[in-house]
Amino acid sequence: MSTIIKAENLVFSYPDEPEGHPPVLRGIDLEIETGTFVAILGHNGSGKSTLAKHINALLTPTEGKMWVDGLDTSDPENLLEVRGRVGMVFQNPDNQIVASVVEEDVAFGPENLGVPPDEIRQRVDGALRMVGMYELREHSPHLLSGGQKQRVAIAGVIAMMPKCIVLDEATAMLDPSGRKETVDTIRSLNEDYDITVVLITHHMDEAAQAQRLIVMSEGQIIDDGPPKEVFQHVDTLRAAGLDVPETVSLLYELRKSGVDVPLDALSDEACANVLTKLLTE
Ligand SMILES: Nc1ncnc2c1ncn2[C@@H]1O[C@H](COP(=O)(O)OP(=O)(O)OP(=O)(O)O)[C@@H](O)[C@H]1O
Ligand SMILES: [Mg+2]
Repeated sequence: MSTIIKAENLVFSYPDEPEGHPPVLRGIDLEIETGTFVAILGHNGSGKSTLAKHINALLTPTEGKMWVDGLDTSDPENLLEVRGRVGMVFQNPDNQIVASVVEEDVAFGPENLGVPPDEIRQRVDGALRMVGMYELREHSPHLLSGGQKQRVAIAGVIAMMPKCIVLDEATAMLDPSGRKETVDTIRSLNEDYDITVVLITHHMDEAAQAQRLIVMSEGQIIDDGPPKEVFQHVDTLRAAGLDVPETVSLLYELRKSGVDVPLDALSDEACANVLTKLLTE
């Protein structure tokens, strides 16, 4: 297994912060293996977006180091390489659409990279198939649903052939079906094409689908592990201003009342099974 993202004692302060203000990132140590699906949770202002921007060198550390695929992001000579390896998808799909036809929009990134036209054609078709938008390639993006627009935005990133995609609350403006579309697309990119995914989200159900869940609070990583484990740390999560999934919350309350139930029944189905067993015993 190789490492795609590595941060060592990463400290970051925005230049316009008043003197004496604590840094926004306060000594992040992090290593992410290539091909992992990682989710990041944290309350507002905990530093998630600031960390995400370090992954594609939109920001560089004030202190400490960040490497992407072995490239030091602080070295200006690595900038284009790093940006080519990490694609970012943001919250508002409308801000990310630049062309009036879906396939032209997806072609925009590789065109800027100077990819030859026939290869662009292949990449665009491939990317649109990967996100299930090939049939709508000649449509206007502006007439699509929110979920479809985000899939086009993801295709635009895929067409640049990154090794890693960072999605910063990319589902926040979508309705439940758009969210599901987007998360299903991300999962298939990860599972079928081995693309490393970093998903920043406020939704527990999305975070629960990742292989690894990182929790941030006040510029630090305060928990890190498989979602099933992290969600059992109910007190830590609540202290960081986060909710736990309703399933875990219910089991946690039962345990507090002395009922012997596991806390790791995360899905509705697993939780229902635990309760059924309890009722029929
Ligand atoms: N451009 C900026 N200049 C100065 N301070 C900033 C800037 N962007 C963010 N901050 C501050 O840095 C801290 C972390 O912000 P960041 O956007 O990384 O948090 P976040 O976890 O992504 O929050 P949210 O959940 O609201 O998106 C906040 O206190 C914020 O006010
Ligand atoms: Mg943010």
